[in-house]
Amino acid sequence: MGKKEHGFETKVIHGGYDSKDFLGSLTTPLFQTSTFTFDSAEQGENRFAGTEDGYVYSRLGNPTVRALEDRIAQLEGGEAGLAFGSGMAAVSAVLIGLTKANDHILCSRGVYGCTFGLLSMMEDKYNITTSFSTMNTEDEIRKLIRPETSCIYVETPINPTMELIDLEMVAKVAKDYGIPVVVDNTFATPYLQKPLELGCDLVLHSATKYIGGHGDVVAGLLIGKQDIIQQLAMTTQKDIGGIISPFDAWLLLRGLKTLPVRMDRHCANAEKVVTRLKDHGLVSSVYYPGDAQHEDYEIMKKQMKQGGGLISFEIKGGKEEAQAFLNHLSFIKKAVSLGDAESLIQHPATMTHSVVPEEIREKMGITNSLIRLSVGLEAWEDIWEDLYQALNQVTQSKTI
Ligand SMILES: Cc1ncc(COP(=O)(O)O)c(C=O)c1O
Repeated sequence: MGKKEHGFETKVIHGGYDSKDFLGSLTTPLFQTSTFTFDSAEQGENRFAGTEDGYVYSRLGNPTVRALEDRIAQLEGGEAGLAFGSGMAAVSAVLIGLTKANDHILCSRGVYGCTFGLLSMMEDKYNITTSFSTMNTEDEIRKLIRPETSCIYVETPINPTMELIDLEMVAKVAKDYGIPVVVDNTFATPYLQKPLELGCDLVLHSATKYIGGHGDVVAGLLIGKQDIIQQLAMTTQKDIGGIISPFDAWLLLRGLKTLPVRMDRHCANAEKVVTRLKDHGLVSSVYYPGDAQHEDYEIMKKQMKQGGGLISFEIKGGKEEAQAFLNHLSFIKKAVSLGDAESLIQHPATMTHSVVPEEIREKMGITNSLIRLSVGLEAWEDIWEDLYQALNQVTQSKTI
């Protein structure tokens, strides 16, 4: 009988690391070094030629970083991983790596603001055009695919509208045309959603968020098949150079160990807050994929374990009311980023998605009254109490 594969909760702690290889050190040692020495000139030559294994220079590989890359690859069910100095370094490495001048990208209707900014820049500079699509049906996707489409890029759940895309369906259509599907899995994490198992080709993360989980690292991760990851490692990672520092990789390895425990708590807190938000008179809509009334609830049941820790909601009024609400909060922090122990709240139209022109923002569903809440690990009663008193203060000022 073959050896049983470890569960996710075991892999987040042990995956990709064997203490026997590191003098018995329980935790992965921090190799805070820029370069590695060679025993002889010939060894240096062989390492550069790739005929001998071993480290050369930390932009090309580092043992602490390698442990992180191996662990995230195991967690996503991929063959190999690559770590970057930010989520955007991972996004740009993959988008630049998969395209050439005059190509076309098919992208989910909503994406993180800086990803949108990068796509606009690629169009301006290299005539790489992007079509945005809700990707609701196979037909819609097929209609938008062109001979020069070289990549399908999907965020799900979408930041910040919390719409979902059926990854299995997108992957199936893409296979017919041989186009790679890239999924930004930042909001769900591999604990809740595994795009590679659904047939997608590459997964990336802003590891700044739930993977790190403690608000102290900016980092990115990319996972996929060995050949494509190796190709990106030797091109857009090595030559553009957006690598992670060994210390940040070490922090991510530490954060990852508690990912399942944290995610369960984020999700449980979010569910409690959602039911209460829906009942408040100032709240006109709540978007949470774990809510049975969410329009993509069936997709969530199909591809996600739980609804996640992010909630978006609209309050009656516009930008003025949204900002007043944020200003009335007491301990919930007004900050972009998400996935931290602390609850974080932001106004996408004027913050994370302010780079997206207003008419496109409206099409993406990012109205001036939309608020995004990253539900933290605090007592849910305290989170709700803070939201409730701030909502009530706005309600009172409106009726006076
Ligand atoms: C969904 C998503 N993808 C990518 C990024 C970019 O990641 P980073 O800020 O780590 O560069 C973000 C940042 O907020 C994000 O929310």
